[in-house]
Formats: sequence, C-alpha cells, structure tokens
Amino acid sequence: MNILIYPDPGLYRPALPVDRIGPAERKLCERMLEKLYQARGIGLSAPQVGVSVRVAVLDLNTPELGRNPLVLINPVITHREGEIIWEEGCLSIPGFRSETKRSEEVRVRAQNPEGREIEIVGRNLLAVVIQHELDHFDGKLLIDRAGRLKKNLYLRKLKKMHRDRS
Ligand code: NI
Repeated sequence: MNILIYPDPGLYRPALPVDRIGPAERKLCERMLEKLYQARGIGLSAPQVGVSVRVAVLDLNTPELGRNPLVLINPVITHREGEIIWEEGCLSIPGFRSETKRSEEVRVRAQNPEGREIEIVGRNLLAVVIQHELDHFDGKLLIDRAGRLKKNLYLRKLKKMHRDRS
C-alpha cells in the first residue's frame, strides 16, 4: 500500500460508499492506520492509497500521548458551525502547506469497522482534519483550493525536486 502523490489521477477519482463492512474492509482500515502512523500523519483517506471508497482514518495524538485512532466509514457531515482558518498539509502533497478556511465545528455520522453507526463532534483541529479527509472523497485537494500563484510556486518546486533527484 502506497500513498499516491499529487498529481496522481487516482487522487481525483470520486470515492464510492462502502455498502458492506466485512473482513476485507476491516483489513483496509487496519492497513490505512498502519500507513498513517508510518507516514506520521494525522489523517488519511482511502483514495490516497488508491482505493476509491469513502473510508478515512485519523489520529491526532502525538507519539508521546499514545495512539487514539478514529476510523470513519461513509462519514457524512450533518451539522457545521463557525469558521476557522488553519494551515494545512497533506500526505499526498509533500512540502505543500496552505491556509484553508473550514467550519470550526462539525457533527459527523459514520460507521465504524464493526458496522455500527457512530456520531462524533469535532472542533478545531479535529474538525479541520475531518473536512480535509472528506474532501479527498470528492477529489478536492488542498492545492487546488489555494491560489494560482501558490500552486505554480509548488509546481516549480516539484519540478526542481524531480530534477535534483535524477
Ligand atoms: Ni490530504
């Protein structure tokens, strides 16, 4: 399992709902969590590992605090409140950071890997990560939300990175 890197077309493929949660789906969640920890990220969506389904894994804990995974299958935001601007990054867009406007609080309904319905309320960073991961389901990337200038700067940086490597 590898994390797709921008501008991989897989990142733009719309993700389908999971209609049955079985062993294969639970395995996917487990492997995504492993990948998340390995990459030292705080959120990862299935489209980022080339699987176009509506599954996201999150963990806001730092290694010192231990693990506190949250797995969201078919998450839907049912309520939003407030506004917050956060400087976000994305595991699929290495070296890119951008201030993005989000809702400050979201209420989310989802299923967990056991297939049970869960409801969570996320504020601040948790709300930001949830909205970021859900955007991946619709092929919405941080870099495409940023201004053209910022995007072009990054594309130039990418080219340079490739040049230096080869
Ligand atoms: Ni991302």
